[in-house]
Amino acid sequence: MCGIFGYIGTDGRAINSVLYSIGLLEHRGYDSMGVAFNMGREVELYKISQEDKENFNIEDLKRLVPKRKRICNNGIGHTRWATFGGKTTKNAHPHHDFNKLFYFVHNGNVENLDDIKKELGKGSFYSETDSEVIVNLIAKYYREMNSLEKAVSKVLKKIEGANAFVVMDANKPEQLIAANKGGTIILGKENGNTIVASDLAAFEPFTIKNRHILKDNEIVEITKQGWKIYEDEKVKKAAKEINEPNSDLGEYKFFMEKEIFEQKYTMANAIRGRLITETGIPKLGGIENIARSLRKVKTFHFIGCGTAYNACLYAKFLFNRFGIAASASIASEFCYRHSVFAPDDAFIFISQSGETADTIEVINEIKIKGNICLGIVNVPGSRIWRETDAGISIRAGKEKGVASTKAFISQLASIVMLAVFLARQRNMTIDTGQRIFRELELIPDKIQEILNQANLIRKVVNKNSRFTNYYFLGRYFNYITAEEGSLKLKEISYVHAEAYPLGEMKHGPLALIDKDFCSVVIIPDDSVFKKSLVNIHEIKARNGKVLAITNKKMDVNLADDIIFVPRTIDYLSPLLTTIPLQLFSYYMALKLKRNPDKPRNLAKTVTVS
Ligand code: F6R
Repeated sequence: MCGIFGYIGTDGRAINSVLYSIGLLEHRGYDSMGVAFNMGREVELYKISQEDKENFNIEDLKRLVPKRKRICNNGIGHTRWATFGGKTTKNAHPHHDFNKLFYFVHNGNVENLDDIKKELGKGSFYSETDSEVIVNLIAKYYREMNSLEKAVSKVLKKIEGANAFVVMDANKPEQLIAANKGGTIILGKENGNTIVASDLAAFEPFTIKNRHILKDNEIVEITKQGWKIYEDEKVKKAAKEINEPNSDLGEYKFFMEKEIFEQKYTMANAIRGRLITETGIPKLGGIENIARSLRKVKTFHFIGCGTAYNACLYAKFLFNRFGIAASASIASEFCYRHSVFAPDDAFIFISQSGETADTIEVINEIKIKGNICLGIVNVPGSRIWRETDAGISIRAGKEKGVASTKAFISQLASIVMLAVFLARQRNMTIDTGQRIFRELELIPDKIQEILNQANLIRKVVNKNSRFTNYYFLGRYFNYITAEEGSLKLKEISYVHAEAYPLGEMKHGPLALIDKDFCSVVIIPDDSVFKKSLVNIHEIKARNGKVLAITNKKMDVNLADDIIFVPRTIDYLSPLLTTIPLQLFSYYMALKLKRNPDKPRNLAKTVTVS
């Protein structure tokens, strides 16, 4: 969701730095962008939104900033994903109070906005955002207390919901104040410049060794010397080191394309050094300390959203396959249902970003109950990484494409390793563990074999791009692949797609099948292959179009198009069958002239619940 960046420097390069790093946060929210520069005597504000230009990017914002004034040491910037108020330039951040004393960039949602508006009394707001209300509350408390830190501290106590923000005081060009309650604020220092951001991606141009993450309810004063952290107005230190590899587009046109094509390497990275063949037990450093407690757990509950939820489903199926009880739940539903679980059950939270608000809400709830919480996370140092007791880093590297691709495959790989780890604690034999390891080691090359067919998949897409309705169908493990393929297609192509367990077709969905409906059927040679074949006949008998993903020779009259994938153990097949579906949705997006890295209405990191 919204991206935040702030810079206090000594080199006069705040304008360039803010504009550059805001560009790196584009994927967080791209409904609008804005920057404010404290020029000493005045604050200059520049904003752009989809209202001005449907497909604007950072270059359009840069063009708004006059070149002659490029010397500045204090700036803030923001990329917005709309919640309170439409995608307009007025609603773009930075926001300011009525008197233009404070400028404010904000990530989150204020859930008790009506109460705060009442407290502020009358006032004509220029925007529809909660952020403008909050900066006015800060200004009000500042007038009462004559201290920005104290005012921010009071606001932090007052507002409800997950929020993180940075405030610029127009009269203090040497200082920024940031605060966190339920969000993420990261600080970094480099050669006389201090940086604050909501996301490590913004740190890319800087060679920063020490980074600090603000804890909840902490307020920080940022100056060129570094930062002072306050909690309840006491100076405190909080530090947690994190490292993240850089990422750029290289030879690729889109991040989604790059991330699909690097999966051979990211998959290899997920398992590197972890498959100990002698024992058939994976070495998972992040859970070693609690291995004994995990032995006693009877049921594992997996929680996630979107693609990460699909990974949860895979975990459930795989754990069950290995004789371990498991459930999978969509995070945004979990807290509102009456879930039954035992005190010694463990919860496993899957998240690429580690910042998904819906998932964090469940963590908060489960921590109250006292169950073990594990994370399967991509971004080191992220909130879910920090808030869980232990976990596995999926090591996929920065994922910038809004549609999750390589992180999904690395999540599946991590789930397999975790499942083997736990199953080896229980009933799995050493040779089964070893056999799985041997097969996992082959997966990176098998992924590459599929990627080598990209041109063929592109041709299949071009041939089928007239369809406006798709089913994605599969049985057992490949029902999960179907869910993931369907999600990918709709989110980046805006083509209607639904996923079903293939055998369920005859119970209703088959009614929609005719010559204008395309079914993508995932049908590897496994225990459900024969049953799946019958179901394809049912679709063909109704003149439906069938595109098959398989590893077995099939009657060419049965499927209109076939994409072959290499063979593997049946329960590992989603690690392969997902890849052609990622390419399918990617090429469909290109064919339909969509920008796959900026799907409308979506953001990469969903920090509102
Ligand atoms: C789909 C996609 C989303 C995310 C979901 C959870 O391609 O990317 O569905 O999977 O928003 O995000 P994380 O994994 O960051 O918790």
